[in-house]
Amino acid sequence: MSSKFPKHFLWGGAVAANQVEGAYLTDGKGLSTSDLQPQGILSRLSPRVAGDSGIKDVAIDFYHRYPQDIALFAEMGFKCLRTSIAWTRIFPQGDEETPNEAGLAFYDRMFDEMAKYGIQPLITLSHYETPYGLTQKYGGWSNRKTIDFFERYARTVFERYKHKVKYWLTFNEINMSLHAPFTGVGLPEGSSKSAVYQAIHHQLVASAKVVKACHEIVPGGKIGNMLLGGILYPLSCKPEDVLETQRQNRDWLFFGDVQARGAYPAYMQRFFRENGIQVEITDEDKQILRETVDFISFSYYMSGCVTTDEESNKTAQANILNMVPNPHLASSEWGWQIDPIGLRYLLNELYDRYQKPLFIVENGLGAKDRIEADGSINDDYRINYLNDHLVQVGEAIDDGVDVMGYTSWGPIDLVSASKAEMSKRYGFIYVDRDDAGNGTLERRRKKSFYWYRDVIHSNGNNL
Ligand code: BG6
Repeated sequence: MSSKFPKHFLWGGAVAANQVEGAYLTDGKGLSTSDLQPQGILSRLSPRVAGDSGIKDVAIDFYHRYPQDIALFAEMGFKCLRTSIAWTRIFPQGDEETPNEAGLAFYDRMFDEMAKYGIQPLITLSHYETPYGLTQKYGGWSNRKTIDFFERYARTVFERYKHKVKYWLTFNEINMSLHAPFTGVGLPEGSSKSAVYQAIHHQLVASAKVVKACHEIVPGGKIGNMLLGGILYPLSCKPEDVLETQRQNRDWLFFGDVQARGAYPAYMQRFFRENGIQVEITDEDKQILRETVDFISFSYYMSGCVTTDEESNKTAQANILNMVPNPHLASSEWGWQIDPIGLRYLLNELYDRYQKPLFIVENGLGAKDRIEADGSINDDYRINYLNDHLVQVGEAIDDGVDVMGYTSWGPIDLVSASKAEMSKRYGFIYVDRDDAGNGTLERRRKKSFYWYRDVIHSNGNNL
């Protein structure tokens, strides 16, 4: 039987600099907003003082171990590796005139290592890694100047790596700012809605500016946006629930609408008006927003429900999105509901809406792993999760959706974003490190390593 997956499908995995690299002050790197949240996105901002430490400071030491890790990815047959460039390695405070050569040289070495195995880099320009210097001095993304600093950084890395990196992403989960403003746009908790949407607007303008820059600088370059694909279903068929679900889905689709269609959607006018939100959008901004992305990328871990019933709303899960649980679905150990069919549904919805290629750049199961007496790790739960989701990707491709690739989240165990845990493992490769930072950092192949290798080898035919 021939595979449903296209011949040049980009199979691989995805990580982010702040969750794997460690070396948080090495070779001139400055502090990022991520370094200011050593307990993760869900924690309060804790300004660092000398002597403080956090698990992300070393993370899994990818900064020094990347050749070994990339060799393991190659062993699985990766065609693509998604990671981010840590902005603060290139511009440590964010507002320097010239870049930090040691930081640039690190990514040269990393891309060269990937090239040895024919692995395409997919590079996120900003994965919750805004320089802390910019938030301190300029108020982060609330300030228009941050757009220029970001553009300078993006142009610098496009110029430097234009012959090494073809695929780029602007902001990781750009809609995250609605849930975690410090993480997304460097604004303090409790900021007004107007302040958050103004900062988001600046980020959308910055995104469009670097789309333009990428097209100017990188020969054959393709650049996408990145959405947190938290698709919502109505809990009931009550019309009020259906309408409220549409409204809440628009909260995040709004970002994609601007980035893929090139203008604010009509429904935002009413949303802004009814919520007393003032956003300054200049004519020049409107012009630049027309620079739309080449493809849409997104993360997908779970779906959720929406209801207008106050009692049922009290059961909203304690995850960052506060979704109402779906009674038909099971959950992971972290309470994230598992919904493979939701991925097919989401792919179809996004393709119908945007008619642009789609790239699933995060999907995976965070779970606790156990090492058996013989040293093996039998993570069938992870295999089942990924297999079920990939079957649905195949179905969506059969539905006619143009899917460029799939990079599972955390192909090697890394520090989780929400609570900075090591015990929430996503990898095909185990890393010996616990939540307190103890361990040798030794790497070990899990059962899923061999399973994923076979999936890639058969181009999805063995799912
Ligand atoms: C996404 C992020 O929100 O989900 C990643 O882009 C993150 O950075 C991933 O790691 C999974 O979340 P967590 O909290 O389990 O690490």
